[in-house]
Amino acid sequence: MTALQRFESDQIAPALLDRWEIMSGREHETAQNILSSRANWSLALLQAVDQGKLAREAIKPASALAMENHGGKTLIALVRKHWGQLRQSNEARQKRMAEVAKLVAEKKGNAQAGTAVYQALCSACHRYRGKGGNIGPNLDAYQLNNPGFIIPAVVDPNLGIREEFAGFNVITKDNQRLTGFIAQNAPRFIVLRDLAQNSITLPRAEIKDLKAMPVSLMPEGITDALTDQQVRDLFAYLMGK
Ligand code: HEC
Repeated sequence: MTALQRFESDQIAPALLDRWEIMSGREHETAQNILSSRANWSLALLQAVDQGKLAREAIKPASALAMENHGGKTLIALVRKHWGQLRQSNEARQKRMAEVAKLVAEKKGNAQAGTAVYQALCSACHRYRGKGGNIGPNLDAYQLNNPGFIIPAVVDPNLGIREEFAGFNVITKDNQRLTGFIAQNAPRFIVLRDLAQNSITLPRAEIKDLKAMPVSLMPEGITDALTDQQVRDLFAYLMGK
């Protein structure tokens, strides 16, 4: 398949996308590397995602970033729409990602034991299998069985932050600092929902500064304190639906 990469034809993107369903996981990786290497192919891939022909979770954040780097209004808008504001992962996160990917690939964990890890680390913010909080997106809506999606999403939450889940920092005129989501944005006041799910009404007249947070509300390094077995169990639970 990599031989195709050197060609420039417009035919290559549709040909690869047509075969997507019959490709293996490894071939999906190769295909997205190829497609993200040229702007016109990237656009075809992004349009397939946008039309729902291909799941967003099938595309790694690294490929999405590579596509965005080609530039162009339509292309950037499609990447932002589906992956949010993407960033380059730092070295420490990349290293941890490789470690976690290796642990998960080596040996299957125990999904049952993973439930407890999930409850301790994630359920305060995410709904999954019908239970949990709603600070982050509902995980039932994702295809979590793809390691190329779920591992970066958990290990490096800052890779992509979507606008609808962006947190805000507020500084009031009496110098209180608050963090949360804008639950309501009215002309005279805002309602901030904090991480404990409390709603706080703040008159605009009392706000000195209101800014979207540059980082994800999802904590970085969330798996770092887990044992190898707990990592495997957590991912067995997440990926085993
Ligand atoms: C403090 C709240 C919080 C905790 C704890 C948390 N998350 Fe998140 N998570 C979020 C928010 C907010 C987002 C969406 C914003 C973003 O993309 O950063 C998110 C995004 C995600 C996404 C989707 C990423 C995407 O590209 O759409 C996945 C998957 C995810 N979290 C899984 C987990 C798992 C698994 C855990 C536990 C190991 C966890 N989260 C713990 C708040 C949290």
